[in-house]
Order: sequence, then C-alpha cells, then structure tokens
Amino acid sequence: MKPLIKSSFYSNNECFEQEKIILCHQMWNFGGFTTDLENHNDYICKEVGGKSIVIQNFHGKLKAFHNVCSHRFSRIHTNNQGNGALQCPYHAWLYNSDGIPIGIPHQHEFNEMSDTLKKSLKLERWLVERCGVFIFIKKIDDGISLKDHLGEIYEQLLDFSMAIGRQVERYQTIINANWKIVVENSLESYHIWSVHPNSLGKFGAVEGDYFLYGLHSIYKSNPKKIDKKWEKFLGSVGNRSLKVNGYQHYLVFPMLTLATFSGMSLTVHVINPLNSTTTEVTNYTFMGKLNDERLEETLFNMNSQSTADLTRVAWEEDKPICEQVQLGISEVEEKTGIFSREEQRVYGFHKAYVQFMSEYVRA
Ligand code: FES
Ligand SMILES: [Fe+2]
Repeated sequence: MKPLIKSSFYSNNECFEQEKIILCHQMWNFGGFTTDLENHNDYICKEVGGKSIVIQNFHGKLKAFHNVCSHRFSRIHTNNQGNGALQCPYHAWLYNSDGIPIGIPHQHEFNEMSDTLKKSLKLERWLVERCGVFIFIKKIDDGISLKDHLGEIYEQLLDFSMAIGRQVERYQTIINANWKIVVENSLESYHIWSVHPNSLGKFGAVEGDYFLYGLHSIYKSNPKKIDKKWEKFLGSVGNRSLKVNGYQHYLVFPMLTLATFSGMSLTVHVINPLNSTTTEVTNYTFMGKLNDERLEETLFNMNSQSTADLTRVAWEEDKPICEQVQLGISEVEEKTGIFSREEQRVYGFHKAYVQFMSEYVRA
C-alpha cells in the first residue's frame, strides 16, 4: 500500500483552500455537544473551514448560522460558548431564529428597510443534524443527510454518544502541522512503541483489527497489560452503557476521532485546521455511564485523573512528531512513502480524501 495523497498537499495553501470548501463546508463536521445547548439561547461558536459558525438553541430547536452580522460584518457572538440573544455587539441588530434581523435600532434612519430587504439581509444558514449528543453542521444542502454520511458507523457513534458520562477534562493544543498529518498519526498504532513507550505503550502488545466503513474506520484491540485493580473493577461492572471490550478508536471522516477503553473512559478529539500548517486539537475526556451512581463514583475516583493524564501525555508526545513530519514532508516533492498493515486506516483515509478531492488531485 502506498500513500495516495501527494506530499505537496500537506503544505500547499491552494490545496488548503479547496479542502475548506470540499471537506469543511460541503461535508458534515462536528460542531459541538447537545449538552452545551440545553436551554433557550444557549449557543456555541465553532470555527469551520475558516468561518465562525454559531449553533444556537431557539426554544428547543437547534439552528446554525455564519456568525457574522449582515449590517457591517462584525462577529455576532464573541465568546465560544454562552447564553444570549443572537444580537450583534456593534449596533445591536437582533436576529430571529431564521437569521432575519428583526430588531434594528434607529430603523427610520435607513432609506429603506422593508420586510423584503430584511429577509435579503438574513444570516447565512448552515444545516444542523445530530447523532446522539454529537451535533454536526454543514453549509451546502446536497441532499446527503448526516445518517447517509455516517453510514455503517452511525449506530456505533450513537451508542458511543449515549455512553458519555461525566466530563473529566477539556484540553486544547496547537500543533504546527497540517491537519492530515495529525489525523493520520492518530490512525495507526505502528508508532506506539517508538513515540509512546511509557504512556500508551505500557499496555503491552497493540496488534488489533482494522475495520473500514466507507469513509470512516475503527481499530479494535485488547491491551495485554492491565492493572490488576482495574481488571477486577472491570469484572465487577456488568451493566455499562457502551459494551465494548478493550480499546477502540474511531475516525469519523474527515477530522473527528474518538476512543474508548471498555466503555469506561471515552475521549473525543476535535481536529480543527487553522491554516495549511497549523492545527488546533481539542480533546474531551469523559467517564462512561455505568447505570449505577455508586459505581460511576468509584470509576471517577479510580480512573478519571489517570485517563485525562494519559490522553494529555499522548498528545504531548504526538505533537512534536507531527511537527517533524511537517518539516520533512515540506521538503519532499515526488517521493511517495509506504504503508504497513498497521497503517491500513491511513490508507483508507487517503482513499476517502482522494474520492472527494479528486478533481483537485487530478488538476
Ligand atoms: S455591524 Fe452588526 S449591527 Fe452594525
Ligand atoms: Fe500517538
């Protein structure tokens, strides 16, 4: 197996501009968690392909808009998250749930401000759909629903989402590498021994099974070396929400990854390209739902800190290596690398990428 994405695509700005349109605006991407949008006027803002998008709860209905005022283009919500009307901070235009400006101070000072004109000034609407607690958004309505996009992975993502319990940590880091290097790094276990010998590597052999589900993929393995105390606890918990044995890692194409250990700990990694060689990673660590408050408390006390620490350390170890790959790949022109069996999910990612970027790839 050989890489299908050209090395130059990892630092080329033109390519990045195409990716923003094809993979970020036209495709379903993670926008946030429904748990952050439970009340009327709760909102979250997410940078998607170079645009700030606001997702807001309007009396129980989730809507998404480009977070830029139609008057003279100020950002509307200026915090990443909060509760408040969709109202611009500059001249206080107030927007309704259709993104139409319904409150315009000193309206009589405008030569014309008919209802038709107001409608033409409505905010750019984005589509919103959810899979459990995961919210996805996209700009273009091409008839492909979130369920269509997720395909066979839909049910698995739903199960994962329903097992998310108490949040332990939200950790963010910036990696000076193209987003594809960051995604690819998380799709293979080949580097565990060399990059993570004292963190992920301490759980022993990581040979596992790789499953490709269309654009998406899952890796399943059974770590060999598990702490005795932990093993005993695992044995005592029969009724956990996510019935997964061992470690599982999911790619939701193009840039969301998730992982769980036996449904006990769950991590969500939101990979967000800022420019062609800078990527923001936001990692959320949760404990799993066990359907028993006492056991959940025991799990939290026993495992939450070590899971959060392990995830953070793993990202701190991955960050410099991704940055080294960025430096190296920028110097390579015609050469193609090579993939091992353990890198077959990276190959799957390349296939999916080429499928969508094919016109650009051919050009
Ligand atoms: S720029 Fe938003 S109200 Fe003027
Ligand atoms: Fe890693």
